Amino acid sequence: MIVLICLLLVFARGCASDLVLKSTKMDCKVNPKYVDNVTCYVKDLGGDKSHVQMDCHLIEPLRNPIVHIKLHKKDYNDQYKPFLVNISFKACDLIAGKSFIPYGLVMWRTLKKFTNANHSCPFTGHLFARDMVFEASNLPSSIPLGVYWVAITFLETYPEGSKANYGTVNWYWEIMRPKRKHKKNKTA
Ligand SMILES: *[C@@H]1O[C@H](CO)[C@@H](O)[C@H](O)[C@H]1NC(C)=O
Ligand SMILES: *[C@@H]1O[C@H](CO)[C@@H](O)[C@H](O)[C@H]1NC(C)=O
Ligand SMILES: *[C@@H]1O[C@H](CO)[C@@H](O)[C@H](O)[C@H]1NC(C)=O
Repeated sequence: MIVLICLLLVFARGCASDLVLKSTKMDCKVNPKYVDNVTCYVKDLGGDKSHVQMDCHLIEPLRNPIVHIKLHKKDYNDQYKPFLVNISFKACDLIAGKSFIPYGLVMWRTLKKFTNANHSCPFTGHLFARDMVFEASNLPSSIPLGVYWVAITFLETYPEGSKANYGTVNWYWEIMRPKRKHKKNKTA
């Protein structure tokens, strides 16, 4: 049944699982007081494939960070506008199963799969992501095709009452239909 609905929708707009999310760019803006030795970039693998690679060194641990996730979509005037997701949550509570923020859980699933931040708090030392992708199936099936930017900011709240901005990861995506392989040569 679901397959049938998908087949029908593909003609209209496509199911999210039939869409491809390709990372196009990443930059990491960090506070050098807390984080150094940062590299983060997207490696284009051609077609609709790419991988994110990231390394950084935490000078101060993350013990109880608030994570702020804000999604933007590029509009017809080539301007990024806030879109769909603008949330803040305590990452350690989410990781400990004490809170259930849907887009927070999606982020956590992705980090667990592709990074060494795959454990409970705190986070210390060298953090890295390898061959990371974000799957379109994490997003609602009604997500429009287009160009997106998600800004993920980390604010440390330890000790109690403080708020230290460690930095922001800016991750750029294109959501598109899968590219089809060109048909084998007609005689040239
Ligand atoms: C900084 O990064 C380089 C290359 O990834 C690594 O060899 C070095 O050990 C790192 N230094 C620190 C302090 O993490
Ligand atoms: C996003 O959320 C923050 C609070 O977490 C709020 O201050 C801001 O106005 C929101 N932005 C939009 C565009 O909704
Ligand atoms: C966490 O990530 C590291 C680095 O990728 C890996 O060596 C380790 O096995 C992972 N641990 C778990 C519990 O998945």
